[in-house]
Amino acid sequence: MDPLRFPSSTKPRMSENINPNEPFEVRLFKPSDLNQVTTINLSCLPENYHQAFYHILHYRFPKTFLVATASRKIIGYIMCRIERGFSETQRLKLLKKGHIVSLAVLPNYRGRGVGKALVAKAVKGMKEYDAKESYLEVRVSNQAAINLYKKLEFHTARRKEAYYKDGEDAYIMTKDIA
Ligand SMILES: CC(C)(COP(=O)(O)OP(=O)(O)OC[C@H]1O[C@@H](n2cnc3c(N)ncnc32)[C@H](O)[C@@H]1OP(=O)(O)O)[C@@H](O)C(=O)NCCC(=O)NCCS
Repeated sequence: MDPLRFPSSTKPRMSENINPNEPFEVRLFKPSDLNQVTTINLSCLPENYHQAFYHILHYRFPKTFLVATASRKIIGYIMCRIERGFSETQRLKLLKKGHIVSLAVLPNYRGRGVGKALVAKAVKGMKEYDAKESYLEVRVSNQAAINLYKKLEFHTARRKEAYYKDGEDAYIMTKDIA
């Protein structure tokens, strides 16, 4: 997805002790969250990034970099970027788009609305930056994420062949947020 990636051999293993029955909340990311966020990213996704990349996105787009917490531990995050470009749905229309760069929820906390809450709040942040569309890439095999985005009224705009390093295709999913 983005060029600033960790080599896969540096991935740490997760060891977490979080009570999955605790209620969760979604708040803005702060720099002291970074280690927990990168640990979640490395354990949940093959697309990984150097710390500078997180800092840059937070510095530029703090309203769309969010974490979910339970018992004051971070259990998920979403990180986005606001871009200028062509609409995914309207021909030759230039606009601001909110790009969901990375989203993950720890396995023990999945299926209870954390992912949905993160995306919904990030979309609100995108509107504050005056973005008119939101979009993302998702592996064609990632049915959980595809279902989550559909629940939030994203639809599939197109398919990008061999988008991922391992050759898997991506769907580009998009939603009008004007
Ligand atoms: C995708 C991911 C973020 C979903 O997080 P989550 O907190 O479990 O999602 P939610 O509980 O908010 O679920 C929202 C909707 O997604 C769908 N969904 C979630 N998990 C699902 C699963 N395992 N199978 C099918 N649909 C699923 C459902 O439609 C669900 O709505 P419902 O609860 O009303 O049925 C999480 O599975 C994850 O971190 N996966 C690994 C990283 C990843 O794939 N990131 C996205 C990259 S594009």
